Amino acid sequence: MNILLLGAGGREHALAWKMAQSPLCHHLYIAPGNPGTAQCGTNLTLSITDFPAIKEACLQYKIDMVLVGPEEPLVTGIVDFFKEDNDLKNTLIIGPSKEAAQLEGSKAYAKKFMQRHHIPTASCQEFTEENYNEGLTYLQEHGLPIVLKADGLAAGKGVIICQHWLEAISEFELMIQRSKFGEAGKRVVVEEFLNGIELSVFVLTDGKDYVLLPEAKDYKRIGERDTGSNTGGMGAISPVPFADDAFMQKVINQIIEPTIKGLEADNLDYKGFLFFGLIKVGDEPFVIEYNCRMGDPETEVVMPRIKNDLVALLAATASGQLGMQQIETDARAAATIVAVSGGYPNEYEKGILIDGLDEAMENDVFLFQAGTKNNGENIVTNGGRVLCATALGNDLDEAINKSRDLVETIQFRGKYFRRDIGFEFL
Ligand code: AMP
Ligand code: GLY
Repeated sequence: MNILLLGAGGREHALAWKMAQSPLCHHLYIAPGNPGTAQCGTNLTLSITDFPAIKEACLQYKIDMVLVGPEEPLVTGIVDFFKEDNDLKNTLIIGPSKEAAQLEGSKAYAKKFMQRHHIPTASCQEFTEENYNEGLTYLQEHGLPIVLKADGLAAGKGVIICQHWLEAISEFELMIQRSKFGEAGKRVVVEEFLNGIELSVFVLTDGKDYVLLPEAKDYKRIGERDTGSNTGGMGAISPVPFADDAFMQKVINQIIEPTIKGLEADNLDYKGFLFFGLIKVGDEPFVIEYNCRMGDPETEVVMPRIKNDLVALLAATASGQLGMQQIETDARAAATIVAVSGGYPNEYEKGILIDGLDEAMENDVFLFQAGTKNNGENIVTNGGRVLCATALGNDLDEAINKSRDLVETIQFRGKYFRRDIGFEFL
């Protein structure tokens, strides 16, 4: 098969690395990719939201299957675009339809889906300009903290946890009346705060069957011990020690299976990865959010723990035959530590020379590149999250130590990383 992967981050490097190992993969193209993905296939200079240009590339390179890494093209309807195009309708595309991608693209849509299918989640109300005053009253009567969420995609910044009513009212006003998050925040979901520990659970589904992938925990805050600003993710581990069999059985019974049945009942076309952002409150799982794609940096620990041929799994997904597949997991633990640019998640410099990249891509240590680009012979920084140093180990301790050793071998001016990934479990 000729395969096109859309995206350019650490997630896409990990997916490209995994797919390139498949005997079913004839040629792998990545658009736009990064210098890491270029080690696994051919990068194409294409925008992931320019559907006509993606079509041209699919025809030119005789692409049999497209895997969409990030949410944006999914939420704006790339799957529908393929299905409705005469030249592309036989090209396999992995991802949900535009409607089903609203599970990530609209928090209000996702909440209604969960309520309809009795899937445990925080209680909530939604407000717009139309019921703005009702919203103000609701906030003042709400217990603290109060969670405010912009309905639409807001680059991971649309969730605000308010410790005080005044703060909640001010943020509410900023979102609805002053377009703090543009159109995405003109509708606000006000949610009950859930106190617990988070984890990321992933399935691959063809809309009726699913396979459960290894779970992961990501570390979102910039500072050690989970302090400071939220980021795209500073590291991840898999497996998650508190996700034991009893807990995962609850996740399956109360969350995953009702979700898959809900997709079917609502006639939603979903053939792709589904990411459950969960929180464990006491012993019970609740859904914080759905994402219609894999997580980043979770993919960088999930892929190394999957023994199956990923291309075979994706082909089975596209043809609705996932019921015949079984996941084989590497019993070892994986950890990834993200090296970021100095200043991230605020302002940071780009174009800084990176040294040490030829180190590792073998056995049980992998450097997945994210915000990097070529500059002549060199590779330089090109984003906040620069690269993800992943390692497998016999236990979490060993995996984390190996990934820390690996991240230390990379040098670029201003490099920062968290030294405490996995701290609660060591
Ligand atoms: P989201 O963009 O929905 O993933 O939310 C970002 C982060 O906000 C989550 O990872 C949680 O840490 C936090 N969060 C969102 N909703 C809630 C909630 N209802 N209770 C507690 N924390 C939440
Ligand atoms: N690591 C969380 C996400 O990809 O949304």
